[in-house]
Amino acid sequence: MTANELRQKYLDFFETKGHKVIPSASLVPTNDSTVLFTTAGMHPLVPYLLGEAHPAGRRLASCQKCIRTGDIEEVGDNRHLTFFEMLGNWSLGDYFKPEAIAWSFEFLTSRDWLGLDLSRLYASVFEGDTDAPRDEESIAHWQRAFGSTGLEAKVGDRTKGIGEGERIFLYPKDKNWWGPAGATGPCGPDSEMFYDSLGAEDKRQHLGSWKGSEPCHPNCDCGRYVEIWNDVFMEYERRIKNKESRIENEVEYEFIPLKQKNVDTGMGLDRTLAVLKGQRSVFDTELFKPMFDVISLHQDGMSETELRRARVVLDHVRAATFMVGDGVEPSNKDRGYVLRRLLRRAMVYAKLLNLKEHWLKALVGQVITVYGEPYPELAQNSERVFSAIATEQKKFSQTLDKALREFERLIKHNAAAGVTGKEAFDLYQSYGLPWEVTHELAQQSGWRIKAEEFEAEFKKHQELSRTASAGQFKGGLADHTEQVVRLHTATHLMNAALRQVLGEHVWQKGSNITAERTRFDFTHPQKMTDKEKKKVEELVNSWIRADYQVKREVLPLEEARKLNAIGVFGEKYADTVSVYTVYDPKTNEVISREFCGGPHVEHTGRVGQFKIIKEEAVSSGVRRLKAVVS
Ligand code: SER
Repeated sequence: MTANELRQKYLDFFETKGHKVIPSASLVPTNDSTVLFTTAGMHPLVPYLLGEAHPAGRRLASCQKCIRTGDIEEVGDNRHLTFFEMLGNWSLGDYFKPEAIAWSFEFLTSRDWLGLDLSRLYASVFEGDTDAPRDEESIAHWQRAFGSTGLEAKVGDRTKGIGEGERIFLYPKDKNWWGPAGATGPCGPDSEMFYDSLGAEDKRQHLGSWKGSEPCHPNCDCGRYVEIWNDVFMEYERRIKNKESRIENEVEYEFIPLKQKNVDTGMGLDRTLAVLKGQRSVFDTELFKPMFDVISLHQDGMSETELRRARVVLDHVRAATFMVGDGVEPSNKDRGYVLRRLLRRAMVYAKLLNLKEHWLKALVGQVITVYGEPYPELAQNSERVFSAIATEQKKFSQTLDKALREFERLIKHNAAAGVTGKEAFDLYQSYGLPWEVTHELAQQSGWRIKAEEFEAEFKKHQELSRTASAGQFKGGLADHTEQVVRLHTATHLMNAALRQVLGEHVWQKGSNITAERTRFDFTHPQKMTDKEKKKVEELVNSWIRADYQVKREVLPLEEARKLNAIGVFGEKYADTVSVYTVYDPKTNEVISREFCGGPHVEHTGRVGQFKIIKEEAVSSGVRRLKAVVS
């Protein structure tokens, strides 16, 4: 089965179960301030998981492009990736555990679908704690599913490893619970499916050169059992119990059962493909194999270190290509910094692997070729992708040699003490060598650099976005407090005002809203003048004062287009879309009309006084505005 066939099969299967297939959203989230990138298929669905009606109904399925940088240290093993595709199905208050588990099992094991070897399949379930009980329902549904094929499905004890007939293993919250990145919101137990990549008789034996003393079990870090699918059962809301408390570590939480119970699932396409082909590593699949070939890398003769480095190069170039394809440009902030870090890390390893000239261009071209069919936006934007990556390469390659020579010098010179945080910072500051790379290279030479020292230096010089530096990009639900909702509507008004004041070349390139401010990136070739900023402010405030109506409609895509609704540049949309319109109820004059999931205020009077606090450049041709409401 090819990757294209697997994608299609998954979506076809869920269509037979009454799901509507929705397209992948951009890697750049449009209305979520908690994350820099789309990290899961559930991300674009947040408003609907919180209760809003989705235009396509209550059963949805998709194949979503995702970026996760939290696992970056692990990239290079057999299964962790920065960019990956997540196949997912959702129930928005419709079906729950029985159907979700039965369908996961059917899709994985039925000969009509994936037909995976049943003897290698395992499930994990939440073991329960003081917040929520052991998930007995899921255990029973898994037992029923395995039982339907005549197999026993006993609950095993992970400390003893896998015994006869044991299929279900219990784990605490850190493994079997999915919740919001913030402190509160919908969450619940999850149940994961694992596939035994060895399939050998001894189920307790570890993969490869693993040194652990415990016997192997589904969640063991050795990677023998590969997690391929996660069914999340959102049945609780995590709320603050002692609302009067103002001290962060004194806040207590409680878990209240939700009225609308949702299912949110995610299956990794690369991992499932590898499993289907009997391959031990995601890097052996048809998605990566041609990347090795195109730069003449031969996995067979490589040492473990070389193989790891080669995998990092391939993974990072694939992720970078997709990021630029969705409009991200290398920079020193937020998303742009993540992209820069990936490209530079790839370049350092490419250098250490002695890759030949043009390796980067060849790999980017290969990614665009492999993904041309499912993601036509890559080919459509290929010129921009090649040129942005080549520019970054040129910038960094001039200093890379010097940086590596300087690093060698430091290691020799500081024989006893290694490299200090200050020196690591100088390598970053003078040569652009990312901290992670210096840290890693030092580790490989047997040195440890103190992260605190580096950070202290860094803070002195620059304020880097907290999210970007902490690398916390775990998925979660967005903040929908009243202030955020008001800023959300203010952002639509600002978009409309910018188009009036500056012209129709203004297109949204990204937005990020927190309770404090809205941040809006848009296409415009030059700095805005004070007069232009003032005009935008005045327009927005006049619309707020007029107290116009805000309405939400669910329309067929074509109809929304005919009504001139503005969409986020480069976004793909489903057949039916949700559109927010701000209009004058007396004359029906439309002020703003945008494709959007919401939520918004009902009339503009609720937005408050609007003020622009900053205007700056993001990259060439893209400006950024920050604004507040009070
Ligand atoms: N949100 C869950 C995950 O990312 C299921 O899609 O694993």
